[in-house]
Amino acid sequence: MSIYILGIESSCDDTSAAVIKERKILANLIANQDVHEKFGGVVPELASRAHQQNIIPVIDNALKKANIGKNQINAVAFTNGPGLLGSLLVGTSFAKSFALALGVPLISVNHMHAHILAHFIEDEGKDKHPPFPFLCLTVSGGHTQIVRVDSYYDMQVIGQTIDDAAGEAFDKAAKIMGLPYPGGPLVDKYSKDGNPDAFKFPHPKVPGLDYSFSGLKTSILYFLRDQLKRDPDFISLNISDLSASIQKNIVDILMRKVIEAVRQTGINHVALAGGVSANSGLRDAFMQKQRSGEWEVYIPPFEYCTDNAAMIAITGYFKYLRGDFASQSISPFTRYKE
Ligand code: KG4
Ligand code: ZN
Repeated sequence: MSIYILGIESSCDDTSAAVIKERKILANLIANQDVHEKFGGVVPELASRAHQQNIIPVIDNALKKANIGKNQINAVAFTNGPGLLGSLLVGTSFAKSFALALGVPLISVNHMHAHILAHFIEDEGKDKHPPFPFLCLTVSGGHTQIVRVDSYYDMQVIGQTIDDAAGEAFDKAAKIMGLPYPGGPLVDKYSKDGNPDAFKFPHPKVPGLDYSFSGLKTSILYFLRDQLKRDPDFISLNISDLSASIQKNIVDILMRKVIEAVRQTGINHVALAGGVSANSGLRDAFMQKQRSGEWEVYIPPFEYCTDNAAMIAITGYFKYLRGDFASQSISPFTRYKE
């Protein structure tokens, strides 16, 4: 008998539901929230309310798309953290009630682990999964981590940001340039026509495998303030070169520590995960390592990079195999824990 898992993701500003049959995705639907755009960032209260509005229709549509009845579901997996409390509470409460009503196990999923385990989703045209142990650079709007992955259940953060996340660095740089939220994808888009060596920004000095991105924001801010004094049109005239230079800086910072992590651990199977893995500059830098034969590289399909419930469902599947179920009294956590 096949195992069907319903996955629910509501940690930030996307409400997503997915159904998997073993490792194969039958449905993976996402309701985005554009209500935040005019505020230049996610507004937690608005996010919770939008999740509340979206969650039932998204799950209903996912079950229809998967073409299964709710009584076929073997377990309900949901994001338990890290994330915004109000957002997490919506998914958690729904998952608990649904699992209880169906009489099936409840499975709690760590959002960051799920980004990594998205690599094991069985997808048409993709049969390359990383072997254990491997390293994973997990880069999102809220987190930047280098993780040593020894099994589906055993992961250790060996490096992380001490302030802003890489996605946050992209988004803040974009905001300074007057681009709408989330600016990361736009910086990527403008970079394509720009010269990455046009402007130089400093690299932070952080010991070990850790990162820092808050200094970059400050240096962009001061640089643009000075340039705008001389030419009020400086940003619009140089948007591509600015984007390409900022992107190069962020990618270089990310790559240096991953290169060091490979050297220290001797593990050269390296995966990319999280929303920022959609970035073309970062993908190119990884592919370059693949071409040179230094690393074996793993990059998930685009739709499994940014927040989605398919990654929650696959993580739920692995936990289901182990009988690792959550109690009905579980509550969400907001900050990362292993
Ligand atoms: O993993 P994710 O979807 O959500 C979080 O858990 O944070 O990551 C979202 C982040 C945002 O900061 C967004 O700007 C960034 O990923 N992002 C990108 C690109 N696509 C998404 N940053 C740079 N280039 C991209 N192409
Ligand atoms: Zn995420």
